[in-house]
Amino acid sequence: TGDEKTKAFVLENLRRVVQEQNTFREQFDQAAHESDQQAELSKRSRMFHDRGISLDTTILSSFGIEGALRDMKDRAMLPVRSITRVAVIGPGLDFTDKGFGYDFYPLQTLQPFAVYDSLVRLGLAEPGKIDITAFDISREVLEHLRSAHDRAKAGENYVVQLPRESWPWVAEAVQYWRSFGSEIGEPAAPVQPPPALKGLETRAVAIRPDVILSCKPVDLNVVFEQFDRSDTRRFDLIIATNVFLYYDTVEQALALQNISTLLKPGGFFLTNDWLPGLPQIPMRSMGYTPVRYGESGDWGDNIFWWQRQ
Ligand SMILES: C[S@@+](CC[C@H](N)C(=O)[O-])C[C@H]1O[C@@H](n2cnc3c(N)ncnc32)[C@H](O)[C@@H]1O
Repeated sequence: TGDEKTKAFVLENLRRVVQEQNTFREQFDQAAHESDQQAELSKRSRMFHDRGISLDTTILSSFGIEGALRDMKDRAMLPVRSITRVAVIGPGLDFTDKGFGYDFYPLQTLQPFAVYDSLVRLGLAEPGKIDITAFDISREVLEHLRSAHDRAKAGENYVVQLPRESWPWVAEAVQYWRSFGSEIGEPAAPVQPPPALKGLETRAVAIRPDVILSCKPVDLNVVFEQFDRSDTRRFDLIIATNVFLYYDTVEQALALQNISTLLKPGGFFLTNDWLPGLPQIPMRSMGYTPVRYGESGDWGDNIFWWQRQ
């Protein structure tokens, strides 16, 4: 009957997901046995190279980026109000919380607006003087951003929902979640979680149309394509999180080479994936910011800083 077929389908997929998760955990643990740290990082940052590209996104990657930007500002690597042109590679599209599967809110993208928010909060850019280009290969992501852009032209806000995962986050991540959007919009009434999720903390932010209009979606495969060479305006800052673990070493090197052509000399590229630098690529690895997301275990990221030579 239909019920039995559904049950078999769900169980089969559950089994597959558990198996996949176990394999990833094993690969992750095996990477720790590599003889040097670079080999370990490289292995971890190619974890999904034989897996389909996913669009999922989380607010925590943007928390990590804000941590790295603050760190670099404190070290005087990024002067105040020095950033105007920014690119976000692979902003993703979020419809569910990955850890717990909350799916009571509509599709949304966060990262381009989160970066705007962080840059203004940290005084690295001035509101109204930021241009963001969102590069992606996904039609869904690009169309979503285009449609938000069209609605912003008509004066409409873009409302993002921010349910907070139930994993215990570090206090700084909770603080980031609370202040998310302070520079780009106003708090809004969140979509109420269904009764089964009673107690889940959530908030929402209505992002101003001018912020949405500052973000231009562009179809670009950063691994295999080069950006329009006739466009000589280069970026001060490029961000890409959770994008390159779907690729192997050669593709990662191609991406780094392409990114070097997009940056101004002295401009920075921040990513949480370890990438293979080569002497032929005019990008220098300048260090990294370790960021913790969770109270326990090793849940967190290293945000690597690359500088265009
Ligand atoms: C897993 S999501 C990451 C979303 C977000 N950056 C985050 O960390 O939460 C990966 C994103 O990268 C995009 N992507 C994957 N390969 C790409 C490529 N070669 N060029 C541009 N975008 C790419 C995907 O379409 C998707 O939007």
